[in-house]
Amino acid sequence: MTNLDEGIPHLRRFDGAKQLMVDGKPFIILGGEVHNSSSSSLEYMEPVWPRLVSLGLNTVLLPVTWELIEPEEGWFDFHLVDGLIDRARRYGLKVIFLWFGTWKNAISSYTPEWVKTDFRRFPRAQDSMGRGLDSITCFSRNALEADSRAFKTLMRHIREVDGGKHTVIMVQVENEVGILGSSRDYNPLAEEYFNQPVPEELIEYLRANEEKLNPYLRCIWKREGGRTSGVWREVFGSGADEVFMAWYFARYVDSVAAAGKSEYPIPMYVNAWLGPSAYMYEDGRPGDYPSGGPISRMLEVWRVAAPNIDLIAPDIYREDFSSVCDEYARLDNPLLIPETVRDERSASYVFHALGRYNGIGFSPFGIDDIAEPEKHPLADSYRLLLGMIPLIARYQGTGRIIGFVDDGSYGYTHTLSIWRIRVRVRGFIYRLGDYQLQISFAKELVEKARMVWPGLPYEARTPPAGLIIAIDDDTYIAVGVNFLLRFLPLDGFSSNVEILWVDEGVFRDGKWVRDRRLNGDETGHGSWVYFEDKPKIRMIKVHRYT
Ligand code: DGJ
Repeated sequence: MTNLDEGIPHLRRFDGAKQLMVDGKPFIILGGEVHNSSSSSLEYMEPVWPRLVSLGLNTVLLPVTWELIEPEEGWFDFHLVDGLIDRARRYGLKVIFLWFGTWKNAISSYTPEWVKTDFRRFPRAQDSMGRGLDSITCFSRNALEADSRAFKTLMRHIREVDGGKHTVIMVQVENEVGILGSSRDYNPLAEEYFNQPVPEELIEYLRANEEKLNPYLRCIWKREGGRTSGVWREVFGSGADEVFMAWYFARYVDSVAAAGKSEYPIPMYVNAWLGPSAYMYEDGRPGDYPSGGPISRMLEVWRVAAPNIDLIAPDIYREDFSSVCDEYARLDNPLLIPETVRDERSASYVFHALGRYNGIGFSPFGIDDIAEPEKHPLADSYRLLLGMIPLIARYQGTGRIIGFVDDGSYGYTHTLSIWRIRVRVRGFIYRLGDYQLQISFAKELVEKARMVWPGLPYEARTPPAGLIIAIDDDTYIAVGVNFLLRFLPLDGFSSNVEILWVDEGVFRDGKWVRDRRLNGDETGHGSWVYFEDKPKIRMIKVHRYT
């Protein structure tokens, strides 16, 4: 290998967080993923690039497809890859390539024609009636070899053209894998494996981590007596189909990733089409969602079977954004959200993902659809967060940073006296530094205030959200929207807390640049700090008196 240097993108463990390092510095992805077909044409992308820049992205997620890079077996065409890297550099963006290889959304629609049409060489998965599905079986050695060869060639090429520049910082291997329409593959090749003993590595992991296993996996294993040998059905009972598929999909994807890493070892991940929770009963049968995909209850199986995959990333389109993050964000699995909604909620979710979960990246899907980026609230959030990256990265994993979003799960926690009115509000109280932070969501507050001051202007496009860092025990950096922040003594009673000063400003490359000093009406004369619908960054110092 040539052209590799110390700045090569990699993941590094700090105290309580794992971070993405690029050019020797922690990098947080403020991203966006384009639609599936956009990056198949450089011309089509031309007007998209400036829009991505106006949105404040630092990284764009772009599909690279097997059908277009290897249209004939053994003949590779990288003009698109080169063009995309070149444009990204010109616009100052980093790139994550999405390898649409054997599977995209559980279907083999991105395989080249010479693969699709050769059923004999690249057999399809089958359902229980023996009908062929629109997906190549993950038990096909020929498919694995062909995909690995193509991916390896792609990674070699990326290393050759970008190994010294690090425009490409990560690669997603395949897209939302699993099998749809059947809980498992009944192709005769698959049947053979299904009747073989569960691999020892997996049994060994279950045994060694019995107490830590997610409740679903523990339950299906223990229900069969916690067996330490046996074929899949014997060990996992009615849950066997999904575990079996997860193991073999993960092994396949891992081999593809290993082939790529042998040429250029940058971080590689898989994305998940979500399924039922690992922690509480939820409806959903494998096959209705891709069976064997990296859903949260299969996380451990994937981690054991796919050591070359650095992380498993949830695509979150569900309303319960936080519960999905809770299941995926683990120290051995730093949180990257490669796909999520691109509406105004995205502008709030990003604070939560980075502050609460030490997220390494956030990326709404279909980003090229945002026609007026300057007007989109995501641009406001990204613009502020961009300069804060060094600061956020410094505090992730230290316990001195929080993130939150009102996703509907917060109740009425306290009553607030403000503007001479008393209001019961939704929000929460959290200890950070030497104080308790009382966060009140703005909606109820303003509605009540309108009874006293009809017509009080208030627009809330984005859900309340924020990210707060205690840079000292009495000094805080807060950024966010639609909430009111107050400080309370730790025990709630024994002293008063007063705001000494509040400065508004921005961070430029991690350095604080001060703007307004807020006081008087803007802080209730030192009692609170209010964050409107347009996000702002404030540095706040407080003290106590009795
Ligand atoms: C999830 C997939 O991963 C994306 O490529 C895209 O197909 C979206 N679904 C569409 O909503």
